[in-house]
Amino acid sequence: MILLNILRFSVVLSVVCCADWWENGNFYQIYPRSFMDSNADGIGDLNGIASKLEYLKEIGVTGTWLSPIFKSPMKDFGYDTEDYRSIQPEYGTMADFENLVARCKALDIKLILDFVPNHTSDLHDWFIRSVNREEEYKDYYIWHPGKVVNGERAPPNNWVSVFRYSAWEWNDIRKEYYLHQFVKEQPDLNYRNPKVVQAMKEVLIFWMEKGVSGFRVDAVPYLFEVEADENGDYPDEPLSGECDDPDSSCYLSHIYTQNIDETFEMAYQWREVLDKFTLEHGTETKIMMTEAYTSLENEIRFYTDGTVNGSQIPFNFELISFINKESTAKDYKFRINSWLSLMPEGYQANWVMGNHDNKRLASRFGVARTDLMNILLQTLPGIAVTYNGEELGMTDVYIPWNQTVDPAACNTNETVFHTFSRDPARTPFQWDDSVSAGFSTNKTTWLPVATDYKTNNVKLQKLSPFSHLKIFKKLTKLRRTKTFTDGDLNVVALDDDILVYERTLSGEDTYIILLNVSSNNRVVDLTKVFANLPARLEVITSSLRSPSLYLAGDVVNTASVRAYPQVGTVFVAV
Ligand SMILES: *[C@@H]1O[C@H](CO)[C@@H](O)[C@H](O)[C@H]1NC(C)=O
Ligand SMILES: *[C@@H]1O[C@H](CO)[C@@H](O)[C@H](O)[C@H]1NC(C)=O
Ligand SMILES: *[C@@H]1O[C@H](CO)[C@@H](O)[C@H](O)[C@H]1NC(C)=O
Ligand SMILES: *[C@@H]1O[C@H](CO)[C@@H](O)[C@H](O)[C@H]1NC(C)=O
Ligand SMILES: *[C@@H]1O[C@H](CO)[C@@H](O)[C@H](O)[C@H]1NC(C)=O
Ligand SMILES: *[C@@H]1O[C@H](CO)[C@@H](O)[C@H](O)[C@H]1NC(C)=O
Repeated sequence: MILLNILRFSVVLSVVCCADWWENGNFYQIYPRSFMDSNADGIGDLNGIASKLEYLKEIGVTGTWLSPIFKSPMKDFGYDTEDYRSIQPEYGTMADFENLVARCKALDIKLILDFVPNHTSDLHDWFIRSVNREEEYKDYYIWHPGKVVNGERAPPNNWVSVFRYSAWEWNDIRKEYYLHQFVKEQPDLNYRNPKVVQAMKEVLIFWMEKGVSGFRVDAVPYLFEVEADENGDYPDEPLSGECDDPDSSCYLSHIYTQNIDETFEMAYQWREVLDKFTLEHGTETKIMMTEAYTSLENEIRFYTDGTVNGSQIPFNFELISFINKESTAKDYKFRINSWLSLMPEGYQANWVMGNHDNKRLASRFGVARTDLMNILLQTLPGIAVTYNGEELGMTDVYIPWNQTVDPAACNTNETVFHTFSRDPARTPFQWDDSVSAGFSTNKTTWLPVATDYKTNNVKLQKLSPFSHLKIFKKLTKLRRTKTFTDGDLNVVALDDDILVYERTLSGEDTYIILLNVSSNNRVVDLTKVFANLPARLEVITSSLRSPSLYLAGDVVNTASVRAYPQVGTVFVAV
């Protein structure tokens, strides 16, 4: 009887007590090519990352996801995989990778790999065999003989690649077209072939056996195309009306090439592979993050279909895609609440503030709002995802046409490339004020180092009494408290300028986060906004400003709190 009681008690405890490792996680995206170069070739590498893991630990990161490190011809900087099971030589060796895994384990930083399932490189062994019509690989890719228009060979239909021009490329050996939704060196895999599905699952298992804690899955919406009709043909996509350039992706409405139902099904199957691995090997939970720029409803479908689960972290791009410099407090509130209200009960929210495909946070919102945005990211419920350098307020770096390397820009022209280029957000990480910002001992790096590196780098921000980095560290520490991991959220937009929210948990400290997203100066009476607040609030941290406006430890009157322009402040009720 006593034993039974103890048993029952411990069962209850295990349910109530411990969040899984990834819940409330603080994830940090490393762009390996630009993080740290250990061998002076001007290109970041795995040993470079391993040498900087203490930094991640110090700033409160619990998991890191690496942009692709697999062997690749680098036409799209690793998003074109040549071999899913080997390391790109300029990034290191398998032994270096194993060392990185061990170092991460020692520091308890979870390592997540980028998985690029939808296409391989045209140098991949599978593609070469498919070109040669080897029976086993014949249907690994999407092939079509094409049409004849006015006596000339033409692509099977009007589909356009994300990087402009026809999504079909003629192969002179096989004498057929293959589909590529990205660059022509990235042929799309045929997920309607069960052999492809199985081969990709085995890739996941391979890396889990190496000790990774999960995967960030790239470009999921493109995984499947509509099924070919009985003649093996694919329908044209209708015009979108969004632009009148037939070579551009915006010309068509992608109803046959994106967000097909089978795509979600595939995500659920991958989750099954991860869960099965966890169970069979008694390891920590393996997680999946999915990248999909799609509707909110589609994003939410990646969590679950109500029966089976998919991604634990379907990347929430609401703050990247819909919030900008001009957004009002009401826009922020709407975007925050729309995710939280659509998310099914019992799942974890996540918030992504930046990545290698978007302008840097400090460039999108202005340097002055850097801390405000990091405060927002770190104080919302659930998982935070930071792109390397955003904790420093690194800004986009202007890269001239003749130094541009991003295929998304190189496929355009000198007049318009800058609106497509992702190079500006991918420049080397700014560690210190030495040669190449301490990223490399080589004076020349694959993309140029920002010109401001002598005044904006980790070393300086650590030494300075006030810095973006210090604020970031304070926030990552704060979010480990119970109010932030388990507490409720109540968001109010007072007007267009002021977003204020409360994080509360019974028996724990109450926190108030006040963000003035505009450039106006005002005084707010917070006693009129939230019930039961005490007369005084104490500042935990506030945006970096000169002269400093609020300092940690300042006590303010709850009835008259200043919300300085572009400043965010975290208060605790005292
Ligand atoms: C320095 O980096 C550049 C650009 O990545 C490279 O071309 C050059 O070979 C590197 N120098 C050395 C000594 O590795
Ligand atoms: C494959 O990934 C590329 C780029 O990463 C993306 O552009 C493309 O749409 C994806 N294709 C599929 C079928 O998922
Ligand atoms: C799906 O995930 C939810 C939330 O984590 C969990 O409660 C549920 O048991 C999972 N369902 C399955 C079928 O694994
Ligand atoms: C790029 O062009 C500028 C002039 O527009 C020139 O000064 C510079 O040397 C060129 N750089 C390279 C790497 O070709
Ligand atoms: C560059 O591309 C834009 C958009 O496709 C086009 O309008 C423009 O004419 C092009 N300019 C040149 C110089 O080719
Ligand atoms: C927020 O900043 C704006 C613009 O700088 C200012 O006009 C407004 O008064 C500020 N609001 C508060 C409540 O301080």
